[in-house]
Amino acid sequence: MKGSEGNGVKLVVAGGAGFIGSNFIRYVLGAREDWRVVNVDKLTYAGNLANLKGLESDDRYRFIRADICDAPRIEEIVSTERPDAIVNFAAETHVDRSISDPALFLRTNVLGTQVLLETARKLEVARYVQISTDEVYGSLGKEGKFSEGSPLRPNSPYAASKTAADLLVRAWFKTYGVPGIVTRCSNNYGPFQFPEKIIPFFITLLHEDKQVPVYGDGMNVRDWIHVDDHSRAIEAVILRGQPGEVYNIGGGNERTNIEITKLLLSAMGKPESMMKFVPDRPGHDRRYAIDDAKTRRELGVAPRVPFEEGLRETVRWYLENEAWWRAVKSGEYLKFFDLWYTREGRT
Ligand code: NAD
Ligand code: DAU
Repeated sequence: MKGSEGNGVKLVVAGGAGFIGSNFIRYVLGAREDWRVVNVDKLTYAGNLANLKGLESDDRYRFIRADICDAPRIEEIVSTERPDAIVNFAAETHVDRSISDPALFLRTNVLGTQVLLETARKLEVARYVQISTDEVYGSLGKEGKFSEGSPLRPNSPYAASKTAADLLVRAWFKTYGVPGIVTRCSNNYGPFQFPEKIIPFFITLLHEDKQVPVYGDGMNVRDWIHVDDHSRAIEAVILRGQPGEVYNIGGGNERTNIEITKLLLSAMGKPESMMKFVPDRPGHDRRYAIDDAKTRRELGVAPRVPFEEGLRETVRWYLENEAWWRAVKSGEYLKFFDLWYTREGRT
């Protein structure tokens, strides 16, 4: 990247109004005074400009509403902005939604990635970073961890679409020399996560004294990482990652869903009777665990946030930011955006 220390890097971040993208933008503009970010987001139900509140007046930041599947528009943006790197967070991300509407996942996650890769190829962008997921590896038994060489065995339409996108990055690197890098991270938690994902969903239900629905026997295992640790790893990938490579990112915190639920019940002072077991998610992966040795060794980055502490802070954040999640749950934030957008005369 530009300069050995990454001085003056300009990023086009796709999907920067969602959970991880918005945390990444706030992290990177805080950590890197001379970096600039152009956030390109369609603002689907999951995109929310309130996640980036305060940055509107920062002249290192700019928001453009666009769909990554809209090839002419993406090409126009990238040719005008001339970024040093494109970082692609934009995706449909909720596994349960992918079971009921798989076509949307293929459109955004596969065709959208292809549009970004083609743009990077035509305009010779120096780096392309694809934010992917451990779900591409499928499910583990009790033993072992996913390494970058593990076979790709996606089990949900979401995971299959992310796998297809990863393979496009590989193909565009091998065939056209597009300097693409793939990151595969485990389950993130932290502020601004859409309350359909288990941690914010359960916190907001418990706050309203509603029971929380645990799928199946609740013994599925996820490897949890704080979103700030994910952001630090992505920054290291932008600076030191090698084109054509894949980097696993994990938290080293394997927990069953029952353990997560009990931690949340205890943090919120609720009894175990608030946990109810419901029918399982079809194709539900049993266990994810990440081997991140390559990322630690080659990029010199490792997670720092202790899980119990990060989870306690996260619970506190949702309790202190009730207005944020109430607006999200009611869909109010979408109306707010449309009003603002029209008033500003934007298209
Ligand atoms: P999210 O659902 O919170 O946000 C997705 C963002 O993408 C939203 O702002 C949305 O408006 C935008 N978007 C969707 N379709 C778009 C389109 N066609 N054009 C432009 N923008 C569009 O997702 P997230 O949890 O922040 O995940 C971000 C990325 O990280 C995804 O690629 C996901 O696969 C990956 N990932 C997520 C996790 C996790 O635990 N959440 C873990 C590993 C990897
Ligand atoms: O592993 C990374 C992935 O983590 C990302 O790629 C995805 O975008 C992200 O959504 C997440 O996928 P999961 O399916 O693991 O996350 P979710 O929060 O939907 O579910 C976590 C676990 O909790 C999973 O085993 C299913 C279970 N669950 C989830 C919900 C929403 C429940 O038991 N009840 C629920 O209501």
